[in-house]
Formats: sequence, C-alpha cells, structure tokens
Amino acid sequence: MRADPPFAIVLAAALAAAMTLLFLLPGCGGAKGQTKGEVTPATLAGPPKPWEEMEHKEKAEYMRDHVVPVMKPLFVAFDATEYAEFGCKTCHGPDAREREFQMPNPHNEVLYPTGSPEQLRTVAEHPEAVRFMVNEVVPTMQALLGIEPYDEVRGTGFSCFYCHPAGQVTAPVVVPGG
Ligand code: HEC
Ligand code: HEC
Repeated sequence: MRADPPFAIVLAAALAAAMTLLFLLPGCGGAKGQTKGEVTPATLAGPPKPWEEMEHKEKAEYMRDHVVPVMKPLFVAFDATEYAEFGCKTCHGPDAREREFQMPNPHNEVLYPTGSPEQLRTVAEHPEAVRFMVNEVVPTMQALLGIEPYDEVRGTGFSCFYCHPAGQVTAPVVVPGG
C-alpha cells in the first residue's frame, strides 16, 4: 500500500510525464493520430488561437468539434456504463445552458486544497477516479485548451478547479477562467 501523494504533486508528475512524451515524439507528424484513435496530450494541437481570446460561440464549437470527440472515448474507457451518454452536460452540468456553460460546474464533486484532510478523504474515497483525472483528464483537457500546465509557485495554469468547485479554501487555489 502506497499513500497517494497530494493532487499538486501527482499532477506535477503527470505533467512532467506528458512533457517527456512531447520531447520523445518526432517533430514531423507523419504517423500522428494514426494509432487507432489513440489520443495523447502530445498529439493535440490545441485551439487555433488563445483560449481566452475566443468568442463564446467559438468556444462552444471547439467543445463540440474537438473536446467531446477526444474526451468521450477517455471517459467511456474509464466507465462505459456511467459515461455512455457523455456530452456537454457531463462536464457542464444539467443546467449548462441556463448557466451559459460557465465553469467550474457547481454540480461537480467539490475538491479541496492540496494537503488538506478533505483532499486526502477525496483521494481515499475515489482512488480510481482521482487517478483517471490526474493521468488522463487533466493533461488531455489542458492540451485541448492550449492552457499552460499548473504552476504551483505562481498558482496559475490548468488544474482540477477549471471543472470542479473549490471547497472552503485555506490556501491559494487557482481561480478558473481568469
Ligand atoms: C475537464 C474537466 C475536469 C477536470 C480538469 C477534472 N475533472 Fe474530475 N470530474 C470531471 C467529470 C466530468 C466528472 C464526472 C462527473 C459525473 O460523473 O457526473 C469528474 C469526477 C470526479 C470525481 C468524482 C468521481 C465519482 O465517482 O463521483 C473526483 C473525485 C474527481 N473528478 C477528481 C478530480 C481531480 C482530483 C482533478 C484534478 C487532478 C479533476 N477531477 C479534474 C471533470 C473534470
Ligand atoms: C471534458 C469536459 C467538457 C466537456 C465534455 C465540454 N466542456 Fe465546455 N468547457 C470545459 C472546460 C474545462 C471549459 C473551460 C472553462 C474556462 O475557460 O475556465 C469549458 C468552456 C466552455 C465554454 C466557455 C464558457 C465561458 O464561460 O466562457 C463553452 C461555451 C462551452 N464550454 C460549451 C460546451 C459545449 C457546447 C459542450 C458540448 C458540445 C461542451 N462545452 C463540452 C469542459 C468541457
């Protein structure tokens, strides 16, 4: 039995692994995306312009054309029954439209700052989901949005809190969406 390290540390490790992968890949894209639909963050180009400069409508179209087709297979591979109906509402919540797709989604699992007892409880209660989020959801979504990886020192970059509400904060946590 190994104690799960805090999110930020696991996250850093996952991101470091993703970066290594980036370096190992050949610069020219001959075989890119030809591995039976297998997607890694390194094969994703990101949006055509910086995410924060995109119009609401452009973001919605990007979600439909690029985010859902990449994220759905990941969630289905993780749990085919639970995510058979994967779509906008899986991430944005049942009232996505009414809330104009604002993130984080208040219906999503509340997450707590690194090192807090609440965070350790989340990891203990959902070890597989947390591993899936850290290893696949975060790096893939970060690459899809073309947002920098989380920087612990500055407290900026893409993190769990883009999608999940932050519970009772005692340490600085990333505020999603700038
Ligand atoms: C791109 C959006 C996104 C990001 C980023 C994200 N998650 Fe999630 N997370 C989801 C979605 C979607 C679900 C499933 C919600 C559902 O089943 O209704 C979920 C579910 C969970 C659950 C609950 C699982 C369960 O069985 O109820 C936990 C715990 C969790 N995420 C932790 C994390 C952690 C920790 C991170 C950061 C390392 C993270 N998530 C990052 C979208 C995200
Ligand atoms: C895997 C999770 C996920 C799925 C599925 C998803 N989105 Fe998103 N969506 C996000 C994240 C993460 C953001 C970025 C939030 C931010 O910029 O702070 C976002 C942002 C948006 C925004 C911009 C919201 C704003 O306030 O600027 C729109 C619009 C949007 N999504 C629409 C959609 C639509 C439409 C679908 C379905 C076709 C969809 N999304 C599916 C995770 C998801």
